[in-house]
Amino acid sequence: MHMPQLGLGTFRLQGQQAIDSVRNGLELGYRHIDTAQIYGNEEEVGRALANAKVARGEVFVTTKIWTENLDSERLAASLKESLRKLRLEQVDLTLIHWPSPGKAVPVAESMQALLAAREAGHTKAIGISNFPVALMREAIDAVGAHNIATNQVELHPYLQNRTVAAFARDAGIHVTAYMPLAYGKVMDDKVIGAIAARLQATPAQMTLAWLLAKGYAVIPSSTKRANLASNLDATALVLAPQDLAAIDALDRGERLVSPEFAPEWD
Ligand SMILES: NC(=O)c1ccc[n+]([C@@H]2O[C@H](COP(=O)([O-])OP(=O)(O)OC[C@H]3O[C@@H](n4cnc5c(N)ncnc54)[C@H](OP(=O)(O)O)[C@@H]3O)[C@@H](O)[C@H]2O)c1
Repeated sequence: MHMPQLGLGTFRLQGQQAIDSVRNGLELGYRHIDTAQIYGNEEEVGRALANAKVARGEVFVTTKIWTENLDSERLAASLKESLRKLRLEQVDLTLIHWPSPGKAVPVAESMQALLAAREAGHTKAIGISNFPVALMREAIDAVGAHNIATNQVELHPYLQNRTVAAFARDAGIHVTAYMPLAYGKVMDDKVIGAIAARLQATPAQMTLAWLLAKGYAVIPSSTKRANLASNLDATALVLAPQDLAAIDALDRGERLVSPEFAPEWD
């Protein structure tokens, strides 16, 4: 799987705003777009992709299966519906968006269904999202770690998710950091701000460069073309060890995303 390390998030983006963000992103050079069934914007993402002057093979597209669709029948049908909305024959990556609430559908059933979707050619790779270690183990038991391309989890300076990241690394599963800017909170951080000022960069760039240095994929979102452009430039920044360490020290276990159906976190 070749997933560009920096991608474009689309959570909350609706209608024209979703179209514009993806269009701007593709024009600026983003080649990895992250959407989900529940975002209600797969059609807009599909429209922006169809209108872009970028060959299909050059863009990596991820979608995620919503919790209502985790049994094998609905998973297959809903992924086909996602493909229709996205105007694609195949997505690059399909994730289980959240573990099944109350374990209503066994992890193994959803993972086997994803594998079948991959074999049918509907997705190139498969993975998981919001899976703590215990559920990662179940997913690995079901299909093997080599078939799990990534675990997409909340990860930013204030929630560094070290237990999950270490387990994933040891299992050979790539980590994708969602909400990498802590939904904009890092912009007000004094430590990150000071490093950014010294390097004549932005706090968002510092944060993304820190995550990229750790080997994670990152999928920041923005409604503004200027922010999309400067975030993409983070791929060219290299932080000194003492600056990486200063951001490492900001972890405070601050989780921003934890709906009532969330699994027990590590
Ligand atoms: N798997 C999951 O369960 C899950 C959950 C949450 C998110 N995600 C994925 O992760 C993506 C990213 O998370 P997110 O969108 O929630 O949060 P985020 O990327 O951490 O933060 C986005 C916020 O930061 C602001 N921002 C972005 N770049 C900026 C810059 N250079 N300067 C100043 N402000 C900036 C944006 O405002 P402006 O629009 O004003 O720039 C927006 O308010 C989502 O879009 C989604 O694809 C996945």
